[in-house]
Amino acid sequence: MQRLIAGNWKMNKEMRQCKEYAESFNAYFKETMVEVLVCPPLPFVYYLARHLHPLVKLGAQDVAAFEPGPYTGEISATMARSVGCLYSIVGHSERRKYFGEDDKLINIKARLARQHAITPIICVGETSAQRKAGKAKAIVKKQVLSCTNKLAAPSFVIAYEPLWAIGTGKNAAPEQAEDMHAFIRQLLTKKYKGKGKDVRIIYGGSVTPENCVPLIRQKNVNGFLVGGVSLDAKRFCEIIAKCGM
Ligand code: 13P
Repeated sequence: MQRLIAGNWKMNKEMRQCKEYAESFNAYFKETMVEVLVCPPLPFVYYLARHLHPLVKLGAQDVAAFEPGPYTGEISATMARSVGCLYSIVGHSERRKYFGEDDKLINIKARLARQHAITPIICVGETSAQRKAGKAKAIVKKQVLSCTNKLAAPSFVIAYEPLWAIGTGKNAAPEQAEDMHAFIRQLLTKKYKGKGKDVRIIYGGSVTPENCVPLIRQKNVNGFLVGGVSLDAKRFCEIIAKCGM
């Protein structure tokens, strides 16, 4: 299956930096076999869709849980799609932590995205305390099954992002990532039979050009969701190049 290398800018950059990024990215980017996705803040999507290399796809970092209407401050899936988003991250741990999002809401968002031709990238992952208590798989199982309720495979992506690895510089060891990805694969094949094999399961949490190769070599690691490093066009392009080999 085609690998997906996605960058999540989170709430970073301003328009001027966004323009510089497009220039720098296009200078470093080499055509590749992997699917490349950039998820910037929504105000930058329209510009980037026109200025980044045509092989790069654009995605949102979230979509509203409602169809368009009186929901001040929200951005609907239809709007994201209309400016060029083909994907949207949903249920990122930062949304769960700072905005109180739960599996039920995340599932609503994922289904709305799907209805409007956006592929949801559903984030799951355990905290450090949950891992230490031996509960990582139980937590991830509940998140995967609840968040994919009434979704068809393989029309979504799962991003396994253990919270202890996000922004900490401590990535999951390749075997740790593979252990969880294989577990998620098992859940999906049980739920979706043969189609579960085609769902991409990507890893996120302190991915860098230095640590990405052993991670991407794991059987069930089908790509990355890159945070911090994706803000640096040169380093993000290095990850893309290494994953395309
Ligand atoms: P970092 O790559 O900065 O650890 O962030 C990971 C992440 O949260 C991507 O969504």
